[in-house]
Amino acid sequence: MNFFRRKKQAALLSADLRRRIRESFEEASRDEEHFPSTIDPRIYHVQLILEFLGDLAGKRVLDAGCGKGRFARVLAERHPRAEISGLDLAESMLRFAPPAIQACAGSLTDLPFRDGAFHAAYATESLEHAVDIERAVAEICRVVAPGGRIVIIDKNAEKWGRLETPDWEKWFTRRQLERLLRRHCRRVSSRFISYWEDVPPDGLFIAWLAEK
Ligand SMILES: C[S@@+](CC[C@H](N)C(=O)[O-])C[C@H]1O[C@@H](n2cnc3c(N)ncnc32)[C@H](O)[C@@H]1O
Repeated sequence: MNFFRRKKQAALLSADLRRRIRESFEEASRDEEHFPSTIDPRIYHVQLILEFLGDLAGKRVLDAGCGKGRFARVLAERHPRAEISGLDLAESMLRFAPPAIQACAGSLTDLPFRDGAFHAAYATESLEHAVDIERAVAEICRVVAPGGRIVIIDKNAEKWGRLETPDWEKWFTRRQLERLLRRHCRRVSSRFISYWEDVPPDGLFIAWLAEK
């Protein structure tokens, strides 16, 4: 029995838990130090997304669980002709999103977009809060059109315990998320990454790259 099947009972995002998570992030939005609205574009997480998604001119892109839109801000600057949407559970996070982004309140587990609405999507440190991970991955893949690209950056389950985490948070091994993405995508790979390209990864962050 795999990890996700074993956790299935506990995996469902109930209305109560969803409210608790949303309230926690509404409060966290006041903490600019730990939940910043900007990011240094040289950080490898940003570089990798820019590189893997390629030329976004005229393309629709989803930042899934965008928080204050720090990644979307860089993408919008680099690709002024892209149409970037940012979705987050916490409306107070979205208030910080740059005006160039279409901000939308909602849940990763129930995306308010039609099938294939986007050419690309990415989720940075948000899937780990989605609780119903299978469903959130299925939703992200559903709203990306065939041939579109997906990047997920989250933390490695093998390093669990290294940081303080709320009770709903989940981290994943490379294989666990690869397996889920393969249900919906043709090509899937993953790699360990660090903040800086010239610093060897310490195994905490993983980037999953997929093509639908
Ligand atoms: C650690 S922050 C990361 C934000 C952003 N991706 C970034 O890297 O700056 C996690 C974000 O996920 C959002 N989130 C948590 N559960 C969510 C869900 N079910 N659907 C959408 N967003 C969710 C939170 O509100 C929060 O803004």
